[in-house]
Amino acid sequence: MKTWMKTVAMGASIAMLIGAGGCGSSRGGSATSSEASGKDPSSISVGISMPEQQLERWKKDGSNLKQILEKRGYKVILQYADGKVDQQTSQIQNMANQGADIVVIASLDGVATGAAAETAKDNGATVIAYDRMIMNTDAVDYYTSFDNTKIGEMQGEYIVKKLGLDQGKKGPFNVELMSGSPDDNNAKYYFEGSWSKLGQYFESGVLQSRSGKVPKSVDDWQTIGIQNWDRQKAQAEMENRINSFYGDGERLDAVLAPNDALALGTVNAVESAGWDYYPIITGQDAEKANVQAIVQGRQTMSVYKDFRKLADITAGIIDDVVAGKTPKTQETYPNGNKDVPSIMAVPEAVDKDNVKSLLVDSGYISAEDAGLK
Ligand code: BGC
Repeated sequence: MKTWMKTVAMGASIAMLIGAGGCGSSRGGSATSSEASGKDPSSISVGISMPEQQLERWKKDGSNLKQILEKRGYKVILQYADGKVDQQTSQIQNMANQGADIVVIASLDGVATGAAAETAKDNGATVIAYDRMIMNTDAVDYYTSFDNTKIGEMQGEYIVKKLGLDQGKKGPFNVELMSGSPDDNNAKYYFEGSWSKLGQYFESGVLQSRSGKVPKSVDDWQTIGIQNWDRQKAQAEMENRINSFYGDGERLDAVLAPNDALALGTVNAVESAGWDYYPIITGQDAEKANVQAIVQGRQTMSVYKDFRKLADITAGIIDDVVAGKTPKTQETYPNGNKDVPSIMAVPEAVDKDNVKSLLVDSGYISAEDAGLK
């Protein structure tokens, strides 16, 4: 939706507008282009800082957002931090120094990014935290993401249903739990969501974990975190648990893997154990290799987060800011310093029953890439 093309009421909020592009003039009444607000997208530069390119999702998120914004006329600089926190900090600082009017940041480390966000803000930029919150600073203006607690709930609920716990099955079932990177604020929400579904069954003994790697409370989620969401670390961790606790033929019923990298690491560990079955394995992001693994029955589910939706929401906020309007946000998320106006997109659970209807028919992935042809 091209909000900048809508009628814009000039008002006090124009004073908040940022840097380049001049102050422009109101033609008043019902002008219909962004010029009416005094800001032409072509005079606005947007810096996009993405964390890394190992995961397909960040590549898609970055290139798609860039493309959408360029179509709307913005000047866009897209940079990837290659998994290095210092690199991300200096890239954001450079964007700020070069006069970026808007900076969109998917942080590697939400706490560490705070200082660079402050430089951008001090230089007059509007700062949008993308997917991951920027923590402990006033410098973040907006936050766009998916409902992260809901994602965790979907993963937990999937395990509950597949094992028939909601139908009264008593097990006990063996479940191994992992959480995401300890420095990623999202990982906390994912675990909280999953635990809200699984915790009661661990407490009643219907679920158990032979490795004993179950956080004492939900606040201890980092104790089972996999640093940097690293697939190989997840694989090593699961190989270790399998060899130490499931080598005697005891069945592993399910693994809570909070994203697709950790899910693939788990699939690899299970395959190297040579079992004749796969446990229920959750995931998140619907990456190509994982969609194929779901179709092949090696991974059980993932959570689909349509990068096109997130880009639309983010671009909508940018359009509003540039048009001098206050973006319509839905809710706020705390970042330790303030409650940040936020818009959350809705995630969807995917398994082999809806790969076609959810992912292929929506144009997210081709039938060939999904392994359906
Ligand atoms: C994102 C996930 C992603 C993970 C690893 C999280 O913050 O929300 O989509 O799988 O980071 O990059």
